[in-house]
Amino acid sequence: MSLYRSRIAGTGSYLPEKVLTNQDLEKLVDTNDQWIRERTGILRRHIAADNEVTSDLAFQATQRALQAAGKTAAELELIIFCTVTGDQVMPSSACELQNKLGCKTIPAFDLSAACSGFVYGLAVADQFVRTGMYKTILVLGAEIIHRYINYKDRETCILFGDAAGAFIIERAKENDANVILSSHLRAEGSLGDLFVLPAGGSKIPFTKKVLDEDLQYVRMKGREIFKNAVRTMSACCQEVLDQNQLSAADVSWLVPHQANWRLMEAVADHFSFPKEKVVSIVHEMGNTSAATVPTAFDVAVRDGRIQRGQLILLTAFGAGLTAGSCLLRY
Ligand code: UT7
Repeated sequence: MSLYRSRIAGTGSYLPEKVLTNQDLEKLVDTNDQWIRERTGILRRHIAADNEVTSDLAFQATQRALQAAGKTAAELELIIFCTVTGDQVMPSSACELQNKLGCKTIPAFDLSAACSGFVYGLAVADQFVRTGMYKTILVLGAEIIHRYINYKDRETCILFGDAAGAFIIERAKENDANVILSSHLRAEGSLGDLFVLPAGGSKIPFTKKVLDEDLQYVRMKGREIFKNAVRTMSACCQEVLDQNQLSAADVSWLVPHQANWRLMEAVADHFSFPKEKVVSIVHEMGNTSAATVPTAFDVAVRDGRIQRGQLILLTAFGAGLTAGSCLLRY
């Protein structure tokens, strides 16, 4: 039995000002608005300004989350920064953000699980609260993924955008029903080659060859990812519902990773879950990796769809392949 439970005190998100539309992409690669709409549901993506770094996006989302939670940065005890496109390899983006927030010496670390990063991070934050180690935690997903996209590759460049979404997690009061109920995480390293960013690690350090062969950009086997994403997200959702002896009918909103509307529909179909209860903002921002789930959640809180007391199911999948789900009462 856990000593304590955690709850969401407040959420925030940030989309950069610059917008890249389907019509803009028509000028860069052999694609068209109709194909992108029909195959993905995406209409536009937000792109960070040249002078913006990932921790800047995170800072904006964090300020909004702190305001929604009625807290100040001084009350934070831990920062979990979920990203695969941080400011640099080291120091971590979490440390960069900690400094920007003026949080002095609180622990801060990056968490790398690609598009599943935020669901992984939320599970980690929940464990720290459950053990009693921390009472107030900032967990966020932030990405500037467009800097790793080849705008000559029509299969990837139409999908991705930049964003940040943040949750302030706090220890719930005794008998508070609005808590994180449980999380389920998984990974299948054997499917790692479906979505990779080849260069920049110990396997392929930066040399001239990297630029000559475009190894600094993501590579993806889209169709295989799609099939595996539906399979793993559905399995993770079922597992977390079973754990809590609940069914899809009990869930008010499903907030899935925003990769592609057809993919979200396929997960909903698998559950016989009504599509009108799937939170989607993919038309507005495309796939923003670890930022999609907290950003979509925050948008739905602010526009009144997600309300206090509702049962919400989060799910994501990403490179690794990683996947996860989290069931919570907001
Ligand atoms: O967070 C994880 C990141 N990755 C993903 O989420 C990707 C998941 N996968 C997907 O979203 C979809 O598989 C895609 C949107 C990437 C592709 O959609 P699809 O329905 O699976 O299309 P496809 O790959 O089967 O390609 C169909 C056709 C092909 O032409 P042929 O071979 O039928 O002549 C492609 O060459 O569409 C062509 N195509 C395009 N046409 C216009 C591929 N990309 C484009 C494009 N514009 N941008």
